[in-house]
Amino acid sequence: MGLHEHETRLSSIKEAGLAAINSAQTSDELEAARVKFLGQKSDLKSIMSTLGTLSVDEKRSIGTLSNGVRQELESFLKERQSSLYKVELERRLAAEKIDTTLPGFGRPLGHIHPLTQITEQIIDIFHGMGFSVVEGPEIETDYYNFDALNTPADHPARDSQDTFYTTVADHVLLRSQTSTIQIRAMEKMKPPLRIIAPGRVYRNEEVNARKYPLFHQIEGLLIDKNVTFGQLRGTLNEFYRLLFGRELKTRFRPDFFPFTEPSAELDCQCPFCLGSGCRTCGQRGWLEMLGCGMVDPNVLRAVDIDPDEWSGFAFGMGVERVAMLKYGINDIRHFYTNDMRFLEQF
Ligand code: DAH
Repeated sequence: MGLHEHETRLSSIKEAGLAAINSAQTSDELEAARVKFLGQKSDLKSIMSTLGTLSVDEKRSIGTLSNGVRQELESFLKERQSSLYKVELERRLAAEKIDTTLPGFGRPLGHIHPLTQITEQIIDIFHGMGFSVVEGPEIETDYYNFDALNTPADHPARDSQDTFYTTVADHVLLRSQTSTIQIRAMEKMKPPLRIIAPGRVYRNEEVNARKYPLFHQIEGLLIDKNVTFGQLRGTLNEFYRLLFGRELKTRFRPDFFPFTEPSAELDCQCPFCLGSGCRTCGQRGWLEMLGCGMVDPNVLRAVDIDPDEWSGFAFGMGVERVAMLKYGINDIRHFYTNDMRFLEQF
């Protein structure tokens, strides 16, 4: 090959190489162009490897020429590499873009059962008045459920609470009231004492919107010297003020419980209509809230507390009833069917 031919070939290699580098759209295509025009097997390389067979003059001019072509291709390649890199980076960033305005993945939160919530609120209020929490067993003997509570075997009050007896033994039953804990507490603690006792109770009752064979009560008991009915009233007034968040009237109606004398049913002014009558209170303006009274001396004697020295008051309320009033729930069964649509509202 003569000088002229070499020049022509080199110039066409240059043109073709520049064109290939220019038209590469990705770094892979660019790399392919580099291999083709500058690689070990490129035409340019093979021309350069034959330089040794040429005359000194040819070697100088063709050597200079091919070096020039190589440099020009290399520098254009570099330029294209850096601009393609930028383009590709932009493309990748756009593809991997994270939309920080998308809502996150929420984890479902559990809820505290409404009965537990109400129980905790009630406990909190009495805590503030110096009462401490005591618990007792749900499987009881008739001694704690009745006898010690001044309700002997032939007492008609036993019939009013349809008690579930167990097959374990004649006298073993599911407690029908948390009043059992009064006795257990007084057996263990010396007066003066102030306790509240939350717990489940059981009664053999037909299920309907207001009755369920399992429900919850909170019992209160205060034993001290010279305790008066006025103190009972003051304590419960304060309780309802804190529970419903406003000053409410209360009234007592005479009632009968074997373990208190005198006994009363306490009504609270309806916190929703304040007495004018609404659906919640059945147009009465008052809500029946709990049973209470002054501890019967016989109960104190049963636990070896001298009724001449000590006296006290007691009360017992249904937790479901408080929860139904406070949350406007019209069917007690909602508490026990565990329907998520119900539970998630609390
Ligand atoms: N134990 C009663 C019941 O289940 C409620 C009760 C009434 C409890 C009067 C008391 C009380 O402590 O003094 O119906």
